[in-house]
Amino acid sequence: MAEESVTPRSAARGAGMLTDGPATGPAAVALGGVDTLASRPVASGMGELDRVLGGGLVPGSVTLLGGEPGIGKSTLLLQALAGFVASGRRGLLVSAEESAEQVKQRAQRLGVDTEGLWLVAATDLTAVGTAIEQVTPDLVVVDSIQTVRDPELEPVAGSVTQVRGCAGALVEMAKATGIAVLVVGHVTKDGSLAGPRALEHVVDTVLTFEGERHHALRLLRAVKHRYGATGELGVFEMGEAGLRGVADAGAMFLGDRRQDAPGSVVFPAMEGHRPLLVELQALVAPTSLAMPRRSASGVDGGRLALLIAVLERRADVRIGAADVYASVAGGIRVVEPGADLALCLALTSSLLDRPVAADLVAIGEVGLAGELRQVGHLPRRLAEAARLGFRRALLPRSAGQDGPLQVLGVSTLAEAVSAVFGVEGAAAPAAQAAAAGGWAIR
Ligand code: TYD
Ligand code: MG
Repeated sequence: MAEESVTPRSAARGAGMLTDGPATGPAAVALGGVDTLASRPVASGMGELDRVLGGGLVPGSVTLLGGEPGIGKSTLLLQALAGFVASGRRGLLVSAEESAEQVKQRAQRLGVDTEGLWLVAATDLTAVGTAIEQVTPDLVVVDSIQTVRDPELEPVAGSVTQVRGCAGALVEMAKATGIAVLVVGHVTKDGSLAGPRALEHVVDTVLTFEGERHHALRLLRAVKHRYGATGELGVFEMGEAGLRGVADAGAMFLGDRRQDAPGSVVFPAMEGHRPLLVELQALVAPTSLAMPRRSASGVDGGRLALLIAVLERRADVRIGAADVYASVAGGIRVVEPGADLALCLALTSSLLDRPVAADLVAIGEVGLAGELRQVGHLPRRLAEAARLGFRRALLPRSAGQDGPLQVLGVSTLAEAVSAVFGVEGAAAPAAQAAAAGGWAIR
């Protein structure tokens, strides 16, 4: 629960169509006649950022960049701002967390050109407004929304009222002036109360910046985008000189793969329009616990439990009484059901302690009956796998045989297990015995 103060409405609504007051705001226009030239995106010059944004920043738009503290938001935005002004535009950085000296030091470390870059180290929204009037920038970066405050609102910066009030003022300013605004918002692991959640609906675009602090890898996603598609993934690497876009992410994710290790299967995932090969890993270990442990990182825990059950019942792969750990290498998350088959094979591979062929990718959704279902964007996934040197693909039979890889089509999980590991799946002996004895229910 968060207390919030409310400003009372000034006038009661009258008997007009909606209000009594004099006509304000824009008149209605025919949609066909609307000019879209003014709202074409302007590239920041950071390829990965521009791709996630669908080309760049739209003038007058407000973008929220959310992420955990220390993940690299300030770094990303300083680099983006520098790229943005490199084309002769003006950029203003509102640093409400760091002093001008700290920002300058970071700029030097990143080696960015500060020509056309302006800075105001202030927390007061009035001072920010004054700076915007002085500089007349094309892009304003506010770092962060939790540390700026509107003096007319309640005293504490970072409260829901302040965060929403300041964001509202920035949105109004952006729409009125055509200045593009980028706002940093910190989120904590539990999704902090007064954090960006409270203003996702106010802004045009919400970007999330994620990664594990111990990895150099950083992933940028658009979770809301009024000017384009969401689902595009931007991949960066954090290094000595800041963030560097990783164009060939597939090769990077598979870089440390041990090909002969049991429990590892490669799945060509889709991130937005981009195929991305990821390594699914599983470890099935004997347990001393009455309730075996299930640990999933990067994959959904509920989905893992479901697949373990389907493996048991439909493919005769008995792992229910063991501890099971499943993860995606490289700190990335895979939520597509298309990864089911690869995960099942990784589990079986670990249980049997036998590696799968190193040149194999597996794609397919597993149903409760153990049947394999098709997955979208197959040609692009297979093309990427072929590009990275894979030669064989295990696919649902309905997917057909075309493509750059040698395809093995299977219609059930049991068939897939038996095709890859050569064991008889689907409780075949039991089913045969039952049929021979004449008492089978089927
Ligand atoms: P920062 O952008 O300050 O994160 P945020 O604004 O999200 O809190 O950067 C966080 C970390 O990134 C910092 O602890 C050090 C690291 N870093 C590098 O590894 N290389 C660099 O060039 C820079 C500028 C930072
Ligand atoms: Mg910061």
